[in-house]
Amino acid sequence: EKQPVKVAVTGAAGQIAYSLLFRIANGDMLGNEQPVHLNMLEIPQALGALEGVCMELEDCAFPLLAGMDTFDDPARAFEGASYVLLVGARPRTKGMERKDLLEANGRIFTEQGRALNDNAPDDVRVLVVGNPANTNCLVAMENAPDIPRERFTAMTRLDHNRALAQLARKTGVPVSRITRMTIWGNHSTTQYPDVFHALVDGRPAFDAIGRDRNWLENEFIPTVQKRGAAVIEARGASSAASAANAAIDHVRDWALGTANGDWVSMAVPSDGSYGVDEGLVSSFPCRCAGGNWEIVQGLEIDEFSRSRIEASVAELREERDAVRSLGLVPA
Ligand code: NAI
Repeated sequence: EKQPVKVAVTGAAGQIAYSLLFRIANGDMLGNEQPVHLNMLEIPQALGALEGVCMELEDCAFPLLAGMDTFDDPARAFEGASYVLLVGARPRTKGMERKDLLEANGRIFTEQGRALNDNAPDDVRVLVVGNPANTNCLVAMENAPDIPRERFTAMTRLDHNRALAQLARKTGVPVSRITRMTIWGNHSTTQYPDVFHALVDGRPAFDAIGRDRNWLENEFIPTVQKRGAAVIEARGASSAASAANAAIDHVRDWALGTANGDWVSMAVPSDGSYGVDEGLVSSFPCRCAGGNWEIVQGLEIDEFSRSRIEASVAELREERDAVRSLGLVPA
């Protein structure tokens, strides 16, 4: 019988967590033989609601749920956690500028980065979901100098899955027969969903869409970039179940490996690959094996793709400079 693995989730009384915690406890993330212990972090005002979530988790009688604890102190919540999913964040409220959002969240992720540094085991794996995810991840990573950088990632898997679904719909082929999708850059409307390396039934996706540049530029790319806003418009609330599903996919593939011949999109600290400034947390095509990720190298990037990747990286650079000027990461 395997020892339980500790999984910490922040924002545990929020909407995403309301799907995510149940999927983790069901074994969807780490496999159906791996017991888990949930460490759930919330702000003090939300601990009451979190008690209700705990009651429901208990009422599912999940065979793999070995235990659970709730916290309002990140230092305690991250103790002994092998996986830490940073979902909780300050939402953008009316009248809030982008810079205010970066600042409010920068403070949360500075504190949580320090708490990880001082309390999490050396082999912790961190996924940042809370927005602005890439830059929140950068802030946490920069405030956790004792943890290897490659342990920090941010989520662009929802964008990746949205892109797969749009391509499947266009080609009439099930998503299971589409591989090598890539999201580049920031998890924002500047992201670049790239079909030029994707395969449909093992053949170039661009051929499978009839080399339809109009669809690509005027339908596919904007639909994927703006899907989050479209869901809010329709549902009156932001993507939650699909975001939780993407977080499950991200961590599962990181921990257990990507499928042979395929890759996934993950925002990871750049090593300078594809001209992305070293240290920026940017989305790349990644392969995972043995619990580690690596950026897929050697893809040919044409002028069209290059300019779109560059635009999203420019936004990441601006966000980094903003959190630097607030003193939230070292210059
Ligand atoms: P929500 O507002 O329903 O839940 C967030 C929870 O975080 C709240 O319960 C709040 O009390 C808690 N929280 C706030 N500050 C905290 C702190 N310092 N420590 C611990 N908990 C804290 O939001 P929802 O819908 O669950 O979304 C969470 C985040 O995920 C948002 O920032 C959202 O923008 C982001 N998101 C990211 C996606 C991605 O693809 N990367 C996709 C969808 C959402």
